[in-house]
Amino acid sequence: MTTSKDPTLFPNAEQFDASRYEGAGPAPYSYVPFGGGPRICLGNEYARPQILVFLHNIVKRFKWDLMIPDEKVPYDPMPAPSQGLPIRLRPSA
Ligand code: HEM
Repeated sequence: MTTSKDPTLFPNAEQFDASRYEGAGPAPYSYVPFGGGPRICLGNEYARPQILVFLHNIVKRFKWDLMIPDEKVPYDPMPAPSQGLPIRLRPSA
């Protein structure tokens, strides 16, 4: 199990709760999506604002549905939706 799914570090890990990162946030080194140390992801600083802009536009400009709601997301070791997570986008009114 990855640290971000460990219930002792992240209660209700499956529940979307952005507030869990507010204030002091999670314990140090408990959330390490980019690895750490001398081999930490080189794309770290690039990927985070890129994802922020992408999610901002998806949330603000579109409504979306999962086309395969029960799609499996195996970990090997990173989570990867087995069918590529197809979604249906509709423009927001
Ligand atoms: C959400 C996006 C990304 C995630 C979650 C991610 C995650 C990771 C992780 C976990 C590692 C292994 C770190 C370790 O061994 O401790 C890694 C390595 C690496 N990542 Fe990323 N990455 C992302 C995006 C990117 C992007 C956009 C680039 C390039 C533009 C990139 C370039 C690299 C490189 C070159 C390494 C190898 C670093 C090394 O071995 O010295 N990554 N990444």
